[in-house]
Amino acid sequence: MGKEVIPEAVEIMKEAASRYKSFEVETSEFECGGAYYLEHDREWSEDAERFVKTEADAILLGGIGAKNDKGETVKLPNGNLAGYSVVIGLRQSLDLFANVRPVKLLEGIHSPIADKTSKDIDMVIVRENTEGLYIPARGRLSNREEGDLAVDLRVITAKASERVSRFAYELAESRSGAPVDGAKRVTCVDKSNILAGCRLFRESFDKVGLDFPKIYKDYAYVDAWTLWAIQKPEYYDVVVTTNAFGDIISDLGGALQGGLGISPSANIGLSKAMFEPVHGSAPDIAGKNQANPIAAILSLAMMFDWLGSRHGNKDMAKAAEAIRQGIESTLRDSDVRTKDLCLGRWSNVAASSTSEVASEILKRIKW
Ligand SMILES: NC(=O)c1ccc[n+]([C@@H]2O[C@H](COP(=O)([O-])OP(=O)(O)OC[C@H]3O[C@@H](n4cnc5c(N)ncnc54)[C@H](O)[C@@H]3O)[C@@H](O)[C@H]2O)c1
Repeated sequence: MGKEVIPEAVEIMKEAASRYKSFEVETSEFECGGAYYLEHDREWSEDAERFVKTEADAILLGGIGAKNDKGETVKLPNGNLAGYSVVIGLRQSLDLFANVRPVKLLEGIHSPIADKTSKDIDMVIVRENTEGLYIPARGRLSNREEGDLAVDLRVITAKASERVSRFAYELAESRSGAPVDGAKRVTCVDKSNILAGCRLFRESFDKVGLDFPKIYKDYAYVDAWTLWAIQKPEYYDVVVTTNAFGDIISDLGGALQGGLGISPSANIGLSKAMFEPVHGSAPDIAGKNQANPIAAILSLAMMFDWLGSRHGNKDMAKAAEAIRQGIESTLRDSDVRTKDLCLGRWSNVAASSTSEVASEILKRIKW
């Protein structure tokens, strides 16, 4: 489904480049993931891997994950999803340490929580992206007398915990605070009542926090956070957490803002960054022109934000904001939306296709 939503984002990217004279965008496109693996026995070409790792400034990635003709997910011989080295591998090899997932309920989206509106939900989840439970240190022993045994090692370091905490505090400084009270607040989400790694993560959060005296520090155990995020989402501004917890709670964040079809993300490192919709390859709707392109287009806006601040280019920040405005106007002022958003007040609206939504957004962008 990446093949359907990413081209829509790329078209908007090219339009932006043609509108602003202060920057140019050069794009190179590569196939990768399960479908590519089925055909070539590699997750992507050598050329793609070399280019992405050494030459690209920013990477825009569609969801990976394909099914074979028996309907099974395509996997590598070691059991990992085919495409693993592109998504998880790049996060590690390029040291993209902060996974940033904004959660904002836009006007024109049916709120999954009855009494909450777009004024209540506007937070960013920042997930440590390079270690924790997702480092490639795992194994399985089979055919033992006692039965199978599997181990997934979880590694937490002070260095990675401190740098992702610093990223979260800096992000909070740049935002306007939590919807409930305008307080610039960073919530550390962990399981430090039980796990040693989480205790180190929290200590690192506190240590770095000393450099940010004006930011309000807040703490939640991950299980309690999932409850509070539903009961009082307006309380949260920036939330920082470890890798696997972040993976899980950000899907809850996706639900809070109306679904995976509108949930963007960024993987930020010191010199490179990768932008991707949070969703996967959605095999249930792939190839039908039904997928919501907004998550991919919002990811593009995050890419322009990042490139703009990296190159000191204000027009890129303007392009990012114009793209977000185009999306907001489409949802707020029109009925054009894909099927996943035809809920509540919009349940009787005829669903638009992927390309119709993208064209409407492009039409409404005021560059
Ligand atoms: N980063 C990634 O590339 C990534 C992330 C998650 C899952 N995956 C892979 O994707 C495949 C499918 O996984 P899954 O079904 O668990 O997750 P998924 O995110 O692909 O889909 C979950 C549900 O959300 C819906 N959905 C997702 N994106 C949508 C969009 N843009 N518009 C409308 N509806 C959308 C799907 O139709 C599906 O019902 C698996 O192989 C999985 O491993 C990849």
